[in-house]
Amino acid sequence: MNPGSQAVRAAGGPIRLRLQVNGHRREVDCFPMARLLDVLREGLGLTGTKEGCGEGECGACAVLLDGVLVQSCLVPAVQAQEASVETIEGLRGPGGLHPLQEAFLEAGGTQCGICTPGMVLAALALLREEPDPDEAAIRAALAGNLCRCTGYVRIVDAVARAAARLASGGPPS
Ligand code: FES
Ligand code: FES
Repeated sequence: MNPGSQAVRAAGGPIRLRLQVNGHRREVDCFPMARLLDVLREGLGLTGTKEGCGEGECGACAVLLDGVLVQSCLVPAVQAQEASVETIEGLRGPGGLHPLQEAFLEAGGTQCGICTPGMVLAALALLREEPDPDEAAIRAALAGNLCRCTGYVRIVDAVARAAARLASGGPPS
């Protein structure tokens, strides 16, 4: 059974959650008010999604839910019923790292790495909407993602590099 505090358990009996995760059909038993973050990490073993604040403030837990960037620490599991979830584990394709992941490596956009999965997912959401963002647009898109290590310059550079690479090689997947 998926994790859940006493309060979460009291909010309703367990459910069978059915969802698409990174393009694969998955099923997991959990409490309806369990956090999507916990379902991903502990129920499905997808520990790439990180927990920082646990209060919706830092963006470390960001994933895409039906294509929309969400803080998974604030999303009840039941909200993901029959939904599509994209996590950092889904970005690496058969050809290797996603251009965003490559760009973060090249630009030095990651240090301790706690913020990185959320940063990359936020950047992916941006590039799907706006393939050629300027610096202000990149900074605005990442405003909900906090990093205590890099000072953001290298992260912004990484997203700009990825945008340029994707523009020459096709749209982000
Ligand atoms: S852990 Fe979810 S926003 Fe910080
Ligand atoms: S790389 Fe450490 S918090 Fe961003």
